[in-house]
Amino acid sequence: MAGDMKKIMVTGSVGQIGSELTLALRERYGGDNVVALGRKTTPSEELLNTGPFEYQDITDKEGLVRIVESYGIDTIYHMAAILSGVGEQKPDLAYQVNMDGLKNILDIARDKELTRVLAPSSIAAFGPETPRNNTPQETVLRPRTMYGVTKVAGELLCDYYFHKWGVDVRGVRYPGIISWKTPPGGGTTDYAVAIYYDAVQKGSYECFVREDTVLPMMYMPDAINGIIDLAEAPLEGLVHHSDFNMAAMSFSAGELAASIKRHVPEFTVTYKPDYRQTIADSWPNSIDDSAAHEEWGWQPRYDLEKMTADMLTNLRKKFGK
Ligand code: SER
Repeated sequence: MAGDMKKIMVTGSVGQIGSELTLALRERYGGDNVVALGRKTTPSEELLNTGPFEYQDITDKEGLVRIVESYGIDTIYHMAAILSGVGEQKPDLAYQVNMDGLKNILDIARDKELTRVLAPSSIAAFGPETPRNNTPQETVLRPRTMYGVTKVAGELLCDYYFHKWGVDVRGVRYPGIISWKTPPGGGTTDYAVAIYYDAVQKGSYECFVREDTVLPMMYMPDAINGIIDLAEAPLEGLVHHSDFNMAAMSFSAGELAASIKRHVPEFTVTYKPDYRQTIADSWPNSIDDSAAHEEWGWQPRYDLEKMTADMLTNLRKKFGK
């Protein structure tokens, strides 16, 4: 293991990314060395049986300090957040959880002189004025969602803590993440996960964005390997810190449906855009992630076809279909 990251804490460990990330980190660094935090959602048996779990709200700084001290935490993966869809329904909650939660983590990292913090950002940091194709690393960041506002502010806050206090905090702008283990909650890109579940369970899906909606996406194994690779990259090689563009694939909802139909010929999709269409329309089609390639060797392994085959195999197993 990377010698300076011995005791890891994962916030948001019951969430879509956190649940798989925690297991991957336990595999890599040892179960007892990865403390999983969740607020109220019930953790899976797998999460409970493979290492320590603590119920903890990330807006409660004292509680976080107690956990960091009692386990001797030196590294935090901060995955807890309210996503874009729920954030538009509950903007105050999104602000509180995403901003106060991150600041608590950064304050603790500074005060306890932690080795490293990983704090993901998102394509939601971009907005309608951002160039939509091959979106550059340095570009216009004027999001129109509360989630996006907290992500831009979060990137800036992370960089501030690095430059002012030397907190080694790193992050990527994740695209929509697709996975079969834990369903996402409250995001705009959730249709790209739900479509697979419904293909396997129902044979039909009603999609909440238009058929021609193109967004950048990534399969979970790449998302996890990517953030761990970034965590382990030598600091000297990094020019950027908390705002790496990160891409794997881009496709329209219609192309996604077509890739599933190649495996499930009778599958049908209808399109009924809701308020999340406006959010999707404000995000890029595709991302230039050359800085991540150059500075820490980012390389995705899954494209749409490979992901679809793997998703369907795993979901069929999961639901006994
Ligand atoms: N998947 C997220 C969302 O839709 C984007 O970061 O909110």
